[in-house]
Amino acid sequence: MNDVLVKHFSCHAISCLLTSTEASEIMRGIFAGKMLQTIIWRTLPKKRLTAFSYIKFDAMKWKNCIMKKFIIAIDGPASSGKSTTAKLLAKKLGYVYLDSGAMYRACALAALQAGIEHSDTDNLNKILENIDISIEYSPDGNRVLLNNIDVTTRIREEDISRLSSDISVLRPVREKMVALQRKMGEKGGVIMDGRDIGTVVFPNAELKFFMIATAEERARRRCEELQNKGKPACYETVLKEMQERDLQDSTRALAPLKPAEDSICIDTTSLSIEEQVEVLYNYVSAKLTKGNN
Ligand code: CDP
Repeated sequence: MNDVLVKHFSCHAISCLLTSTEASEIMRGIFAGKMLQTIIWRTLPKKRLTAFSYIKFDAMKWKNCIMKKFIIAIDGPASSGKSTTAKLLAKKLGYVYLDSGAMYRACALAALQAGIEHSDTDNLNKILENIDISIEYSPDGNRVLLNNIDVTTRIREEDISRLSSDISVLRPVREKMVALQRKMGEKGGVIMDGRDIGTVVFPNAELKFFMIATAEERARRRCEELQNKGKPACYETVLKEMQERDLQDSTRALAPLKPAEDSICIDTTSLSIEEQVEVLYNYVSAKLTKGNN
């Protein structure tokens, strides 16, 4: 169940002398779209039914608010904390997490497998027409499918990082990916991370974050990540490659990496993962509460 809602609702549950199990049961019923009257009769002892008139009003207001299903855009350079934060935040909010970078990576892998250089735009266009990239959502970790084959692990390799940046400067690639991303996120209730989510993919997103951290800290994180995967890497090399990729991503003509004007900038250099998630969560809660009043 949605954390924001439970937190808010349990305060009222206490003030209305409902147990938290009763409160949860009611919210679960409302969320499952059951008839309110039926849930109340089943859940509450008759003597406390009067307490429900207030809860009913409040819960419905909150349901509407949560059901607005925001689109939350998180952009930023490599290893700035976007994906880890987005994943955890999505779990906390009951939202779907979508990683737009994974799609560019899958596209780069398709070109690599077909032996096509990123400069060979004719052949690349042919590939684009025939590839099927999809993300299978799961709260425990999304799976990325390229032509129905699971490429989740392969696309995280370093050769694909560089290739995905090369390939993502091309218009046909971007057009295909952006169309797919818009389709995936159109119903809302999603957190999508990338480079151009707040500026191009969802310029009307309800909340936009731009996460940054120093290049040194980001390279340190990336090295740690590689080490944890059993692939220790040289810090200097990682730093250099990351800076090159950042430069290419932020200076390209199409959809360059840059903060949307209405984005909230979060510097994660000295924040722990828990702190990052908390900072974003507080912004989302504030926005939901504001929308509710
Ligand atoms: O995980 P990391 O931040 O290293 O990269 P990623 O988000 O997986 O993205 C890989 C590459 O795809 C980036 O370097 C960008 O060039 C490109 N990309 C993009 O152009 N637009 C996006 N919305 C997401 C990624």
